[in-house]
Amino acid sequence: MMRYSSVVVFAAGVLAWSAGFLPASPRGFNLNSTLSGNSVLGSLKQGDPAEGKKIFTTVCFACHTVGKGKLVGPDLAGVTKRRSREWLHKFIPNSTKFIASGDKDAKAVFEEFNKMVMPPQALSAAKIDSVLAYIDSVGGDAAAGGGVDMSKPEGDPKLGAQYFQGTRRLRNGGPSCISCHGMDHPEVTGGGTMAVDLTKVFGRMGAAGIKGILSAPPFPLMKKAYDGRPIEADEIAALQAFFYDANQRASEAKAGVGMGWKYGLFLLFGGLGGLIVLLLLFGALWKDRKSGPVNQRIFERQLGAADVKD
Ligand code: HEC
Ligand code: HEC
Repeated sequence: MMRYSSVVVFAAGVLAWSAGFLPASPRGFNLNSTLSGNSVLGSLKQGDPAEGKKIFTTVCFACHTVGKGKLVGPDLAGVTKRRSREWLHKFIPNSTKFIASGDKDAKAVFEEFNKMVMPPQALSAAKIDSVLAYIDSVGGDAAAGGGVDMSKPEGDPKLGAQYFQGTRRLRNGGPSCISCHGMDHPEVTGGGTMAVDLTKVFGRMGAAGIKGILSAPPFPLMKKAYDGRPIEADEIAALQAFFYDANQRASEAKAGVGMGWKYGLFLLFGGLGGLIVLLLLFGALWKDRKSGPVNQRIFERQLGAADVKD
């Protein structure tokens, strides 16, 4: 009897959960976000476009436009028509997790934008609604143009290398990039491993994307490093030129595959040759130290003893 009733309660719970009456994770249950999120009032218009504009123009604009074409990420005009609210509320706070969950559309945009990771946005459900309300208030559809502008920037790459390395100080006292970022360039030695390697960053986001990120860093760690110590426009221009140069060198090095291929073979056979030499050397040493297995000698001695007895 007891068991029967607990089965009924369990089944009722499952039914209620699948009908959306209960939150999927009771621990994170939050009335406010459930109400303003997608589950209950999903079809109603929500959010404050003025608040949304403020968020968009301080965070998202580094990588997105509304109706002016692609930047680092897609043009967000009309995104609420392309995607469901539920989808947007999953993508914006943590796209990496959402992509990993196997959502096909999320995976497709990720591939389309060179597997560039959109940084997780620590925004409440209500704030996400406000950003979406702002995007809706601008209206229109995504522009066809845009995309990563690959043309050569104006700045001086040598100066950029110095800012990157810290051999020339940033005017407002921000830290040099090399304390967190690595870079493969003849003028740069060493580099941090705390953040992504920037050798090919120009190829990923072009001059506009770099400018967006440096004028308002969207990554928490980097944002903190330059808080109150903004990077000036001429410094950004020099860094853009430096990243252009680094990306150019990297693609030229890659174009020289013939040499890389021969070098690889050289390493492979060099390694094999070394291995053979080592094996021969160990073989010789082994031979000097022990001429036969110890057990063999004991065995022979015992055989001898047996012979004497017989
Ligand atoms: C550092 C750059 C960057 C920032 C900052 C950024 N995004 Fe993104 N965003 C991307 C990229 C890149 C993509 C393309 C998908 C991918 O590569 O994961 C993307 C994709 C999206 C998508 C999916 C669009 C579609 O067509 O499916 C939405 C929605 C979005 N971002 C919203 C936002 C909002 C809202 C903000 C600000 C709160 C923001 N993003 C901040 C880079 C960024
Ligand atoms: C305190 C550490 C820190 C410093 C200093 C720093 N960054 Fe970053 N940066 C980060 C982090 C963290 C990220 C996010 C990506 C990651 O996790 O690697 C990032 C991301 C970036 C990106 C986006 C890369 C991509 O492919 O997504 C660019 C561009 C960038 N930084 C440029 C710079 C430049 C230029 C400087 C120097 C003026 C600089 N950063 C200084 C920590 C730092």
